[in-house]
Parts: sequence; C-alpha cells; structure tokens
Amino acid sequence: MTEEWAETAAQDALKEGVPHPVFPKGLPVLLIRRGAEIYALENRCAHMGCPLAAGKLEGHVLQCPCHDWRFDIRDGKFLDAPELAIKTYAAEIKDGKVFVRLS
Ligand code: FES
Repeated sequence: MTEEWAETAAQDALKEGVPHPVFPKGLPVLLIRRGAEIYALENRCAHMGCPLAAGKLEGHVLQCPCHDWRFDIRDGKFLDAPELAIKTYAAEIKDGKVFVRLS
C-alpha cells in the first residue's frame, strides 16, 4: 500500500495547545501542537460525532465540548474505555508545513 501524505497547514499557524482544524482531502482532522510534537486526530467525537476542535485541552487530554468524553491526543483512546478511540494520523513537518499521513 502506498503512503499518501497531505499538506494541511503552515507550521506557524499552530499555536501551542490550541486545536487547529484542517480538512485534508475533505477529512475532518484536528492538529494540536504540544511542545515539539504535532498530533493529528479525527475531529469527530467517538460518542455522537461532535467536532472536537472546541474541546478543552489539558496536557495530552482533550475533552469533548458536547458531553465531556476525554481522549488522549497521543493515541486517540477514550480515557474511560480505552477500547474506544478516535482515529489518529501520523504528522510531519517539512519546509515549514504540516503534512498528515492519510493512508
Ligand atoms: S459527542 Fe463527544 S461526548 Fe458526546
């Protein structure tokens, strides 16, 4: 299977700890910068699909704005039941731009 990377945003557009929604190939993806790391995850809650961009971020935990489900942004797992998770994507910075691996 060939890898497909999509350009999403300028690196400078990502502010520390501020979720940044993007739509590579129409997919709802949320970029989050934490220190030197960039995390990319599905911008749709595993519960009822609320966008997570308006969620509250504490450390590596993102809380859904709708019914407070909490997810670890490093692996997408729902903290109260790790068998549930939102999709995560590999992210990489190249030439000042953030790329997300879609496949
Ligand atoms: S939609 Fe996210 S907790 Fe309900």
